[in-house]
Order: sequence, then C-alpha cells, then structure tokens
Amino acid sequence: MGRSGSGKTSMRSMIFNNYSANETSRLGATLYVERTEVRFLNNLNLSILDCAGQDNLMKNILMPGNNQLALCQVLIYVFDVSNIEEPKDYITFVDVIKRLNQTSPSCKFFILFHKWDLVMEHEKETAKSNIISALIKSGEEIKFHELYLNGTVKIFTTTIWNETLYLAWSRVVEELVPKANIMKNYLKKISRVLNAKELIIFERKSFLSIVSYSNMFDQDNFYNFNSDRNDGYSHYGVTADRSQKISSIIKTFRKSASYYNGGKFQKLTLHSRSSIIYLDELTDTMAIMLVLPNAMLNESPINQQNINNGNSGN
Ligand code: GTP
Repeated sequence: MGRSGSGKTSMRSMIFNNYSANETSRLGATLYVERTEVRFLNNLNLSILDCAGQDNLMKNILMPGNNQLALCQVLIYVFDVSNIEEPKDYITFVDVIKRLNQTSPSCKFFILFHKWDLVMEHEKETAKSNIISALIKSGEEIKFHELYLNGTVKIFTTTIWNETLYLAWSRVVEELVPKANIMKNYLKKISRVLNAKELIIFERKSFLSIVSYSNMFDQDNFYNFNSDRNDGYSHYGVTADRSQKISSIIKTFRKSASYYNGGKFQKLTLHSRSSIIYLDELTDTMAIMLVLPNAMLNESPINQQNINNGNSGN
C-alpha cells in the first residue's frame, strides 16, 4: 500500500513480471486491488495485493466490512520520499496499521522509503531520520516507536534503479518462508560436502534470494541480529547485500538473454581466477548458486544429483 504514484506497481512489475526500471514509466494507475499469485517453494502460494493509492480508493479498501485486508502476513507500505504530503500521508499510514491490527493481528510491517535515488546524497541521513521522527510522532496511538524497536516494523530505503529493491523484497519473502533456519543448516552441510565458499537459494521466477550461507564470513553470526539499529540493512550484513546484487545482475542477464532464446535461461557457469560460480535450477520453483574455489574444479563432486542429495551425506 501507499499513496498513488509512490511506485508500488513498478516494484511488483520488476520483481514478478520481469519489467526493467525504464519500462515502469509506462505503467498506468492501479484502479482498485490487483492480485498476483506466485507459486513459491513448491507448495506455497504467495498472494500479493497491489492496492490503489488514490485517496477515495484507499478509503474504500480500509472500510470496515471490506475484507481485502483480512489475514495479511506482511504489509509493505511505500512512501515516495521525494513527495511526502504532511501530515496526510502519515495519518493515512496510521489508519492502515489500525485497520490491519483489527483484520490481521500478526501482520509484520515493512516500510519502504522509496525513490531514494531522488534524495541528494548529503541529505539522505537527515531525510531518513526526519521521516522516522514524523512516523513516531504521528504513530503514538499505534505505538509505532515500540513496533520499530521490537522489529515488528522494518524500514528500508529503496529505488528501482539499484539492488536495494531486491534486498527489501527478499527480506519480505524470508519473513514468509517457513523454517528458514532449517534450510540454512542444510546449506551449511552442503557447503561442507562440496567445499563451497557460498550458496544462495533463489526463488526462480522473481530471483529473490530465499536463504543463503557463506563460509567467508562469521558463520554463526551471519546475520547481525544484535544490532540495535532497526533499518532493514543492519540486520543482514554484507552477504545478504551480495545476494541482492546477484539477484539484480541475474535478472538483467536473463532479460537480455530472453531477446535471443525466449528467456529459456537455465544454468550459468562463470570462471574467475579464484572462483567458479555455478548457477542451476534446483526444483521447479528454486534455483541454487554455488561459489567454489577454483582449485576445487576437478575435485568437487558438483552435479545436479549431488546438489539435491547434499544433506544426505553424499
Ligand atoms: P497507483 O497505481 O496510482 O497507486 O501508483 P503506484 O504506487 O503503483 O505507482 P507506479 O508504480 O505506477 O509509479 C509511478 C511512477 O514512479 C512511474 O513513472 C515509475 O517509473 C516511477 N518510479 C517508481 N519507482 C521509482 C524510483 O525508485 N525512483 C524514481 N525516480 N521513480 C520511480
């Protein structure tokens, strides 16, 4: 959700419909609620509701009795930082949270300070703290400050022009993946079996990273959960940032490849002096990327079967 023109449909189209950032300028306004269904991790279904941001339509969506917002697991609220109308935009945001507290009490909130490319470099820190202060002030009734400190609300600065968008959306997706920690432990085991430096599992359609493991960084403190800052980035450290860059690069590559072979991109192997990067499909809905030390090329038991059986001790 978020005000009309804040960039909601643009991000959805880029992530789930393979639009490029340039192509988003052709999108028209959303007229009510557009639902996208994504089959996800084999047997989960992710429903994304893109809600129109025009005042009257938003009012309608928030009306008691309208059950569009029933049982939401995650709200992604988008502020266009280049064009915030005070105090109206903050009041609307608070109304949305109040409504969701009634219809979806366990909903988590992701706030995107979007179009971050339009904020001058030297004004970014101030802009961010000003918006957070305004949200805290307007959101006394919903205890916004408490939600922010206890991690129910996560804030990301995003733009369609770089990988920050994928980082934010990957965190959303991670929030929805059941048993992500178990998956991460499997990756750790597979990493040992294959002597891999790094493994990342991506959802195949969106190429959002679902879970990742690297032995290049402190393994058990991979995500810095002790951080007391609550901007989304501080929790995920350098490796998550890398995953999003890779997401973004692969999506661009896949789009370019589609001009030549109809988008049937399946696997990719890259060799550098120190590493081999191997990207392949894992299941119908997941892809895996492995980074292996180059010296391991002939020794590593790397093939599809071993990847799939990695946790069985092969
Ligand atoms: P409604 O459907 O009316 O609710 O609007 P919306 O929130 O879906 O906005 P939409 O995605 O249609 O984006 C409006 C315009 O913002 C488009 O021209 C996009 O190209 C542009 N836009 C989206 N994201 C960004 C961004 O990160 N930076 C910049 N500079 N422009 C963006």
